[in-house]
Amino acid sequence: MTASEIATSKDKFCALLRATNRRGVETVLAKLEELGFFTAPASTRFHGAEPGGLLQHSLNVCQEARIIRLSQIQLRPDVEQLVPEESAILAALLHDVCKAEIYKQEIKHRKNAQGHWEDYLGYTVDYSAFPMGHGEKSVIRLLQWGLEMTEAEMLAIRWHMGAFNLPFQSVEANNCLTKAKELNPLASVLSAADGLASYVLETR
Ligand SMILES: [Fe+2]
Ligand SMILES: [Fe+2]
Repeated sequence: MTASEIATSKDKFCALLRATNRRGVETVLAKLEELGFFTAPASTRFHGAEPGGLLQHSLNVCQEARIIRLSQIQLRPDVEQLVPEESAILAALLHDVCKAEIYKQEIKHRKNAQGHWEDYLGYTVDYSAFPMGHGEKSVIRLLQWGLEMTEAEMLAIRWHMGAFNLPFQSVEANNCLTKAKELNPLASVLSAADGLASYVLETR
């Protein structure tokens, strides 16, 4: 993304988050700025592996979550109360804040179209700043920064990877994931939104 595209997306992200009117939003925005969230990539080589990739991914997940919420309301009207729109927005925008500080730029090597090796500026991952996991790290960071969140939002962010990392988790963790999904539809909405953003919107 260009600097001006990042600036436009950042304005959109800040406006959406401020519109939730939650206590702690300004501290969250300041911390995200400090950690480099707005210019971080979303991955080292898959979706959004470029400056601003994480910001764009968060906005894409937000867009998907709002659409999925509305589609579920058509099928089951009480989802409107169970999943307030601001919950879908807040959980989607902030689900991956754990990634804000983990990407470092480094010179990498690759073969170009002519088969010659060339250097390029890529990313590597460094978890050493706060090795607390993924979804759980996002929730803990947000609580550290004083963000007011509902339990449904915390559970949705904690379990947003859904079944993706189930093979690496304990039976107890699997049971918690199932229970989180039963307690409130937001967990399923966010997990589906993350998958659709990553593999439909961002994978061409
Ligand atoms: Fe994630
Ligand atoms: Fe994500």
